[in-house]
Amino acid sequence: MPQKWLVFVCTLITTPFLVFSGNVDFIIKERANLLQKELDLMLGSDMVLTDSEKKANEIFMDLKTRELEYGFKNPQYYNCSKHFFEYNTEIMNSELFKLIQKMPKGALLHAHDTALLKADYVLNLTYWDNLYVCFQENNINFLFSEDRPTTFCGTKWELVKDKRYSFSTVEEFDNELKKYFTLVIHNPKEVYTDINGVWKKFQDYFINTEGLFSYKPVWEKYFYDTLKSARDDNIMYLEIRSVLPPLYDIKGNVFDSITTAECYKKVLDKFKTDFPDFFGAKLIYAPSRSVDAEVVKKYMEIAKEIKKKMPDFLAGFDLVGQEDLGAPIKEFMSELIEASDETNYFFHAGETNWYGTSSDENLADAIVLGARRIGHAFAIVKHPLLMEEVKKRNIALEVNVISNAVLKLVEDVRNHPLALLLAQNMPVVISSDDPGLWEAEMLSHDFYVTFVGVASKHADLRLLKKLAFNSLCYSEISNKDKALHEFNIRWTKFIDSIVKDKW
Ligand SMILES: *[C@@H]1O[C@H](CO)[C@@H](O)[C@H](O)[C@H]1NC(C)=O
Ligand SMILES: *[C@@H]1O[C@H](CO)[C@@H](O)[C@H](O)[C@H]1NC(C)=O
Ligand SMILES: [Zn+2]
Repeated sequence: MPQKWLVFVCTLITTPFLVFSGNVDFIIKERANLLQKELDLMLGSDMVLTDSEKKANEIFMDLKTRELEYGFKNPQYYNCSKHFFEYNTEIMNSELFKLIQKMPKGALLHAHDTALLKADYVLNLTYWDNLYVCFQENNINFLFSEDRPTTFCGTKWELVKDKRYSFSTVEEFDNELKKYFTLVIHNPKEVYTDINGVWKKFQDYFINTEGLFSYKPVWEKYFYDTLKSARDDNIMYLEIRSVLPPLYDIKGNVFDSITTAECYKKVLDKFKTDFPDFFGAKLIYAPSRSVDAEVVKKYMEIAKEIKKKMPDFLAGFDLVGQEDLGAPIKEFMSELIEASDETNYFFHAGETNWYGTSSDENLADAIVLGARRIGHAFAIVKHPLLMEEVKKRNIALEVNVISNAVLKLVEDVRNHPLALLLAQNMPVVISSDDPGLWEAEMLSHDFYVTFVGVASKHADLRLLKKLAFNSLCYSEISNKDKALHEFNIRWTKFIDSIVKDKW
């Protein structure tokens, strides 16, 4: 192609956008126009605020603006740009955080069975009677038993009670134990140097606590207290992902995964009797992805049986584990296609920084398999076409900002892809994944960090309301209209209460 022609084409493209100097008013107006148009694209911009909500919005925005402007001028003090462990308790003093805590937040849609309550809670469980412990070099095992367990443990089984009082102080022992119940440490950047390192510690938590949580009475108590904690954080409804481990009793009887699901259902029914204002919970059966196709076939049988026994309780199916190390979804394509008529899918996909790899491309698998929602979808902003598909098919993206920061996909949440998803009005719900492991509340921390650390400075109450609203809209809750109606009532009450406090 002759060079002259090239020049001609380029000039043609740029000409209409030439800036005419001197016309300041025009330029300023255009600038404002562009920015406003873009804000109008943002998630939540379609929400219309009532007069009361507008007043409440002023309160929210006044607090948010102050925090952000202080941070803008003093970045060394800006909490959200630091490691989460440096500010997870600090921000709970923020007035804005306290408002968000009180705010009705709808549903918690991405949360894992035994990773929801904090280390102190888990520590308390070790005070139960008949609990044995086996300390090994780098890990620990628990077992409830009437007599000293005879199963192999590497060193020796001791009653926790005896072991605790053999330490010079109870605190010393409890602090030793607590290390196994949390990811929180004082020097995370030195210890958790890469994604595999932090995931190792993360997965060790589940391995170390297995004998503790899979004792049937503990399993039931933990779920009951999870529901309570969700309700305390102003959540109406929960979709819990669980690997459904085999549970055991004090006699050493071991039960199957169906029984584990039934335990959940039984506890839920009890909880709803105790707290009729709670809207309930559903189960997403989510076993390990580090298996072969034969095992996935068995998983699907289990899912089918749960569906048959508890049709209203099972929301669907997912696979868990570090995507970069586990099997990609496409390895199980035929098993998953076969079961897709009967099972809804909620796949973890794209929880990775490795662009173009099989974990990244799990996103496409989730879409073509008809997933109702996608867990994380962290990598989706690199896929313009998949973004379009997700929007077209109205598949919600369950974003877990704090989890992604702690598990080392992003260092500073201002760089989290959620900012782009919000800006482009993608179907987003905010969730918390495993908040107990990083000492976060069920949803409040993730909402706060989204609002203050990720979203535009201009994003206001409309975004928060939309996110809460979305969580119910994209849930599998049975009585959705009723839940939305009740949500609106609680929301209005909340707005009135903060407006009244102020004026
Ligand atoms: C953030 O952290 C600093 C300490 O570095 C603290 O003084 C400040 O009040 C914190 N909270 C907010 C909401 O900015
Ligand atoms: C742990 O148990 C103590 C004593 O019973 C209780 O006061 C405390 O609130 C419990 N902590 C948690 C986190 O459940
Ligand atoms: Zn998850």
